[in-house]
Amino acid sequence: MPHRLFSTKPIGELHEADESGNELNRTLDARALVLLGIGAIIGTGIFVLTGTAAANHAGPALIISFLIAGLGCALAGLCYAEFSAMIPVSGSAYSYSYATLGEGVAWFIGWNLILEYLFAAATVAVGWSGYVVSLVEQLGFHLPDAITNAPFTKGAGHFEIVRTGAIINLPAVLVIAAITCLCYVGIHQSARFNAVVVAIKVAVIILFIGFGMWVIDGANWHPFIPPNTGEFGKFGWSGVFQAAGIIFFAYIGFDAVSTAAQEAKNPQRDMPMGIMGSLVVCTILYVMVSAVLTGMVHYSELNTAAPVALALDRHPELSWLSGWIKLGAIAGMTSVMLVMMLGQPRIFYAMSHDGLLPKFFRKVHPTHKTPYIGTLITGTLAALIGGLFPVTILGELVSIGTLLAFTTVCIGVLVLRYTRPDLKRPFRVRAPWLVCIGGALICSAMMVSLPQDTWLRLGVWTAIGFLIYVFYGFRNSALRRSGH
Ligand code: ALA
Repeated sequence: MPHRLFSTKPIGELHEADESGNELNRTLDARALVLLGIGAIIGTGIFVLTGTAAANHAGPALIISFLIAGLGCALAGLCYAEFSAMIPVSGSAYSYSYATLGEGVAWFIGWNLILEYLFAAATVAVGWSGYVVSLVEQLGFHLPDAITNAPFTKGAGHFEIVRTGAIINLPAVLVIAAITCLCYVGIHQSARFNAVVVAIKVAVIILFIGFGMWVIDGANWHPFIPPNTGEFGKFGWSGVFQAAGIIFFAYIGFDAVSTAAQEAKNPQRDMPMGIMGSLVVCTILYVMVSAVLTGMVHYSELNTAAPVALALDRHPELSWLSGWIKLGAIAGMTSVMLVMMLGQPRIFYAMSHDGLLPKFFRKVHPTHKTPYIGTLITGTLAALIGGLFPVTILGELVSIGTLLAFTTVCIGVLVLRYTRPDLKRPFRVRAPWLVCIGGALICSAMMVSLPQDTWLRLGVWTAIGFLIYVFYGFRNSALRRSGH
């Protein structure tokens, strides 16, 4: 068995499968891919997590945390771009690691991508629900707490989950159900819907920066890095790094562009543009938002579910913007869920093609041309998870799973330069040692900064994945059956 874990899928085979058997529609150009990226990136991270990260970990130095996380993502993004242009098939990091690091690692990555996509959709649904409840409240209606909150939350001890008394987070369940229907109907309609939503959320962020910068009080930026309280991760440089691990969530999604490779018109040119373009736009917006936010109010006040709206409310002359920001945030999170929910079934599709998951995951709808069974399964699971758990537990789990996938992609690019120098690389990472090792190191550092219980949950998740691989994937692997 051990050597089987390292058997790789021939890249030629990936291309053949791509050319002969592309049952999905090729409708996305570079612009649509950049929009898909921005649609996936800007969401709960900037609208919800910035507040707690500034108030509890980094203070105004949140700006540095965003730059650290952005740098890690940019380096990983370059690696993603090289991979996705070279292997333009569905499946993202899963397919890349199958071609480079072997089936065992590929399974492990595919399994962790479920944490990234499915769990991120659920996490964002919870953030979405919070903003909807707050907007409805602003309009004068109060939704009962029992049906707008998670029934479970973190307890005092590591790994402890306690009941909250609520029944279910109903808005989170309903929004996932609606998005599942959209994904079921097809990628083209979904991409168009995405473009409209992206325009709205970018507009409200620019409005926030544009109006907020005039009411910045420079005194709020002092001290820029608040002194450490004596506990690791509570301010000081360790706090800046822990905040980077937390707000890393805000960058998750640019790699979702690569899961649409089989639906791109010209993947070789458009994938790198889609990935890097969306990442650059978002990094600039994030750094500006965090500078304005921590300049408008003292960081200690930001420990709230809607920090951006709070900052506006603190300045009566700008409170008219707060409702619009909430609307924009709701729109923004909707498009994040959409991209995540498009990505997950396509990863299932790729894994099923390789025999590592059951056949029904690769069933394509005869008229809509979408992997509809995988879409329905993704929707059901995301609705359940989003309906039952809070943002804190879910967000950190998503971050750690994604960071692990990013680290593997960075290493994979370097490995492939040596094992398959002959492959055509329409987009080549320059200074690969610096970029790949740098990306892997920054992503690993962010993982290390995340809390211990998140590591424990990752361990349990990995153990479940290992069992499924041993009892299903390993026996049914198409590569194994073909005698590779
Ligand atoms: N980056 C995405 C968000 O912040 C997942 O919502």
